[in-house]
Amino acid sequence: MARLSDHVDWQYVFREYWHLYRFGSAGGNPVIRSHLKDVRNRLNAELESNPVVEFDQPVQLPVCAWLGRALDQGLSERTAPVVRVLTRVSGQLTWRYGYERMHKSLARKYAYAELMGPNGPVLSKNVILGLVLFGPKCTYPEHSHDGISESYICLSGSVSDSNYSVFTPGSLFFNPPEKAHRMTTGDFEPTLLAYAWTGTPEKLANQRMSFAGRKS
Ligand SMILES: [Fe+2]
Repeated sequence: MARLSDHVDWQYVFREYWHLYRFGSAGGNPVIRSHLKDVRNRLNAELESNPVVEFDQPVQLPVCAWLGRALDQGLSERTAPVVRVLTRVSGQLTWRYGYERMHKSLARKYAYAELMGPNGPVLSKNVILGLVLFGPKCTYPEHSHDGISESYICLSGSVSDSNYSVFTPGSLFFNPPEKAHRMTTGDFEPTLLAYAWTGTPEKLANQRMSFAGRKS
């Protein structure tokens, strides 16, 4: 049975995630500060247990055509340390949609890859860490997460959150459970986001994402 210590590049992926959640700013907000700490604590506990690693078959989806550009761009941003180690593991990622029915245009411009969580590749019941990749000019429809606190950290490109804010590399945005959110990406460049989900093991294992079915 393979353990995280058998996969050195993956250990450094999580070390860099830990840095993001340790040294990223909470902007003075106590709710966000406690989320950062919660992610860090959950990640620490997993790393101390030297978790089991089970790789699925690597899967590429159409949006992966933009992955090279997203990584290249991220290397000249303040997020370069995490982007650099992601380039080392990018060939092992299993990209997914997470929805049974996908709008055709979104299917070409969106996918996510889990790095740690109940479905692996690094097994955890208590935290999900992953990546989301968007092509340029992508709108990810309004959706929310049942019982899950979610944060995104922009690694490359830029993304707007609903009609309110724009995030560039190094920025974090936080969605508490049930909060509806919608994202759009810039006109010319792809966007790569790191994300973390926290919640109970039951909620993390049985997450059903659903689109709100309306435009905000
Ligand atoms: Fe979300």
